[in-house]
Amino acid sequence: MDIVPQHVSIIMDGNGRWAKARGKERVYGHMEGVESVRACTEAAVEAGVKYLSLYAFSEENWNRPEAEVNRLMELMMEAIHNEVRTLVENGVRFVVLGNRARLSDSLNAAIDALMDKTAACDRMTLIVFLSYSGRWDILQAMKRAAAEKGADALQEMTAEDFAGYLVTAGIPEPDLLIRTSGEQRISNYLLWQCAYTEFVFSDVLWPDFRKPEFRAALETYAQRDRRFGKVK
Ligand code: FPP
Repeated sequence: MDIVPQHVSIIMDGNGRWAKARGKERVYGHMEGVESVRACTEAAVEAGVKYLSLYAFSEENWNRPEAEVNRLMELMMEAIHNEVRTLVENGVRFVVLGNRARLSDSLNAAIDALMDKTAACDRMTLIVFLSYSGRWDILQAMKRAAAEKGADALQEMTAEDFAGYLVTAGIPEPDLLIRTSGEQRISNYLLWQCAYTEFVFSDVLWPDFRKPEFRAALETYAQRDRRFGKVK
């Protein structure tokens, strides 16, 4: 097994609690959370991770109060504008995956522009899951496969073929999934893709999860014994 995971994924959790503990609005936690995104991206590049993916906004998150949803979308927009140069300079390709039909035209345009600008970067790929859920992904894959192949051909389909219809097609499955804030569940994230992923749970709230915490998670991963269902 490689000591450094090729793909690290993070469920960034605890922004609201972090803000509440300081007597502030939840959005303050999200703003501080953007700093953790920056720190972990840097730490991942430094460690030689090839894919870092972040669960930034789930399909379920659309049910949060409108003001919070709007602020999160604004933060995304601001981060895109602020980080273009750093991403390009550090060779980081930026990709957004999820149900983009639900995002505003202006955010979609900003995402497309950043994806274009960083398309040739090959040091690391930063994937932001926006308006994403695992069940949505599996359903959209099934519908597209059925439309493209027809019901009879679906009978012959392998798991590998099916993965080619998920929005993560071509991206290796996560080796390591980190969830912050003490919660220990998958919350409709990469349900198909995490079949053999190692999970590391941290009690640290996302706005406090910085380089040392990220590196500690990589160290925990390096101690794991992955067998993929086989006997060693
Ligand atoms: C979970 O904390 C966090 C989110 C739902 C949003 C994460 C978004 C960011 C860190 C900002 C933008 C991201 C990028 C990629 C620039 P929570 O609100 O569920 O916290 P709680 O569980 O304490 O309520």
